[in-house]
Amino acid sequence: MVAEILARLNVSPGQVVCDGTVGGAGHAIELIRRLNGKGTFIGLDRDPGMTERARIRIEAGETGGGNARLVLRTARYGELPEILAEEGLKGADAVLLDIGINSIQVDDAARGFSFSKEGPLDGRYNPSEPGTRPVSELVNTEEEENLSRWIREYSDERFARKIAKRIVERRTERPFETTTDLAETVVACYPPAKRHLKPHPATRTFQALRIAANNELHHVEAGIRACIESLNPGGALCVISYHSGEDRIAKRLFDEFGSPRSDPSNMYSATTWEGVDYRVESRGAAKPGAEEVALNPRARSARLRTIRRQEASE
Ligand SMILES: C[S@@+](CC[C@H](N)C(=O)[O-])C[C@H]1O[C@@H](n2cnc3c(N)ncnc32)[C@H](O)[C@@H]1O
Repeated sequence: MVAEILARLNVSPGQVVCDGTVGGAGHAIELIRRLNGKGTFIGLDRDPGMTERARIRIEAGETGGGNARLVLRTARYGELPEILAEEGLKGADAVLLDIGINSIQVDDAARGFSFSKEGPLDGRYNPSEPGTRPVSELVNTEEEENLSRWIREYSDERFARKIAKRIVERRTERPFETTTDLAETVVACYPPAKRHLKPHPATRTFQALRIAANNELHHVEAGIRACIESLNPGGALCVISYHSGEDRIAKRLFDEFGSPRSDPSNMYSATTWEGVDYRVESRGAAKPGAEEVALNPRARSARLRTIRRQEASE
């Protein structure tokens, strides 16, 4: 969906552009190229390792050169308003959020995101960020009720109750320390005939506990709101999500900002566009085409939504 995202953001030289989830800098490079050496690019990532990786790739010159100002920070995209203010900027003309986790993070066993590689049971984007808790702390100390709710609500895992119960039983024998230890406990909760199916039975539980460890849905909600409010007139925000709960938050916030308001002074029409600063572009979320899914199966669940702040004169 890269071409579609670039078309919707429609970046031109001199603008202020933000990639709030800069990750491996794939999208960032394309956005910076379109600044053509003029303007400001702000790249944010909650994970200091990813911000550093993006810096190396961008500074290696894959962006076509030029003198666009580069601001790369380890921060959550919800901090965009403060970062704009620190940089002396009023707002952003284009913001991209490609929400979730990067395969680079999953592939690094030491981060504790992967159920298939043995590593410490951590699962945080930034272990030194206040307010986050490693997955090991959640599974070793949280009440069964909370574990069950997270696993069910954050990943629709049908065996959530059984998995939570088994986690609590197992931790009394010895605490969980590694990713594979937790994965084995989860797999044992599945009926034998389903233990070898794809996706791996631990996929959903690991996703749910990562979301809980990083308090992700709270930050998605606060972050999308902050990015919408940071747009300059005419500016657009694109949100790509891979998780239905995150897409629901994007949809609800876009509807909140972009819906016609009721007009108490007009007794004939209940709603009006007056005073509404934002328009939701396109009905429903855009999905990747079959060709893209064949090349990148992970793209199958991607949903793209766009909201635009209206020009002052609109
Ligand atoms: C799917 S990747 C982005 C990939 C990127 N678009 C690229 O082209 O390589 C998502 C990134 O978002 C980061 N992330 C997750 N939550 C975040 C948040 N609240 N604020 C900023 N970055 C976040 C993750 O660390 C990860 O690097």
